[in-house]
Amino acid sequence: MSDVDWPALKAAALAVQERAYVPYSDYRVGAALLTASGEIVAGCNVENATFGATCCAERTAVFSAVAAGHREFRAVAVVTHGAEPGTPCGICRQVLAEFGSDLEVLCFTPEGAEEVYWLSELLPHAFKLK
Ligand code: THU
Repeated sequence: MSDVDWPALKAAALAVQERAYVPYSDYRVGAALLTASGEIVAGCNVENATFGATCCAERTAVFSAVAAGHREFRAVAVVTHGAEPGTPCGICRQVLAEFGSDLEVLCFTPEGAEEVYWLSELLPHAFKLK
């Protein structure tokens, strides 16, 4: 793994996971993005009564980061719960890939499971508008 400060990124993901708005699934997700400039921007999943309007934690983090002026990212930590960590859904993989697939993705749970991927592994051949 790279020189990313993973403990700081994981702490941010865990903190924001507590803010997840999940009245329908009770499935809390926290995501913390490390920007190229060294800042951490976090996001949680925000569900909606329509279900379809729900926003995943990873996209909340990306959209918040972009709104704050960031477009280059080095890593993202995603926290779920359970024996196996959840990985970003397909839509979130594509949204992350919009800003580059050279991104480390750490998926973990407070129960101790942990996996690290490159986004290029999780979403090979990402769609690009040419
Ligand atoms: N969810 C995420 O936040 N990230 C993902 O990559 C997959 C799913 C959320 C959406 C919904 O609030 C809950 O997990 C169950 O699907």
